[in-house]
Amino acid sequence: MFLGVVPILALVMIFAQLLHTLKIASVGYLITALVFMVFAVIFIYTYRYSFKFKEVFEGVKNDVKDEEVSTLAENMSALTNKSALWALGFLYIAGYFVIAGITLVMYPQEWQISNSFFHIFISGSIFVKWLFFVALSFALTGSFLMYLYFYWEGGKSGLSDEFKALVREKTLSVTKKGALLLPLTLLLHLVTLPGSAVTGMVFGLSGAALFIIFAVYHLLYDMIKNGNVTSSARVFMLIVVAVIALAVADQIKITQSTSKHSLQLAAAYDAALKAAGGEGAAAEVSGEAIFKAKCSACHKFDQKVVGPPYKETLPKYEGKINELVKYINAPVKVNPDYPPMPAQGLKPREARAVAEYIMTEYKK
Ligand code: HEC
Repeated sequence: MFLGVVPILALVMIFAQLLHTLKIASVGYLITALVFMVFAVIFIYTYRYSFKFKEVFEGVKNDVKDEEVSTLAENMSALTNKSALWALGFLYIAGYFVIAGITLVMYPQEWQISNSFFHIFISGSIFVKWLFFVALSFALTGSFLMYLYFYWEGGKSGLSDEFKALVREKTLSVTKKGALLLPLTLLLHLVTLPGSAVTGMVFGLSGAALFIIFAVYHLLYDMIKNGNVTSSARVFMLIVVAVIALAVADQIKITQSTSKHSLQLAAAYDAALKAAGGEGAAAEVSGEAIFKAKCSACHKFDQKVVGPPYKETLPKYEGKINELVKYINAPVKVNPDYPPMPAQGLKPREARAVAEYIMTEYKK
């Protein structure tokens, strides 16, 4: 839930804003990924629980030797295997759609064509990036399990030597397979990237990650040759550092590819804001409402409050509405008997509306 569903949900929201108005299938891909990921989580859950029951039934089966119990045991075992397969399948598909959603953003030349949903199945750049992602996942998972079993808090205790050897062999082999595939897929991805997405920083970070992966090879080779797990912590840490470097590089690629679009969005936003608040666009402004909200605290028509009564000051503005508007917009000192009037921060349209309102009102 926390490493799969939540991040994809966050990605959907971020990309929906970042890619707003662009003709690109990314958000659609990510939503599809979310659906598959939810299914994957359900099957992982089933797997986990049926696994427990399977063990219980297997234990009982041998003691009781009852027909019903052994059928139950078989059913449980089948459920466990099936849910594991389904979970794995959904995870792979969800992963493919996530990678498609993210990768597409880095390849502006594919934005237009990506609108046919099937683009995802024929795009070489998406496939290469997905292979890279799977390789990275293998390396990270293998090394993490190695670290967990043999290093974390002195390693797991109470395991038989046979089981330890099995874990060692499996984790080493998974880490190795993933790490071996990394440089090739990373290079393929880099050479197909459009110029717009590549900066010196992207190359620097990718190069550093490659260098780290070669160091990992060295440690892995050493452990395989000597039949030990002494470098498990170092291998895991190095791979984590490589993942961080590659993630930052991806972040830069996305920022680069969408920089032009971000500017356009910002400009569109400014224009929309101007239209909403500026001349001619917004709803009616009411002079009376503005007077009540902004002027009536200091002004009455026939009585002195903080400011002078309008019946005294407005006659000189007869037929000079523009001057009145100007004064309301930017008051200047007039009468020494009063303090200066503070500017009210009205928009031009509002100043005109309130000027017209007080002018007609005072004549009544
Ligand atoms: C904080 C109090 C205050 C508010 C709010 C205020 N005024 Fe005034 N207004 C004054 C004072 C004080 C004067 C006298 C200033 C002077 O003579 O220098 C004044 C003067 C005026 C005058 C006379 C200007 C002249 O040439 O003699 C007009 C017209 C006026 N205000 C309109 C408005 C309008 C319209 C609003 C609302 C948008 C408003 N005022 C809000 C305090 C205020």
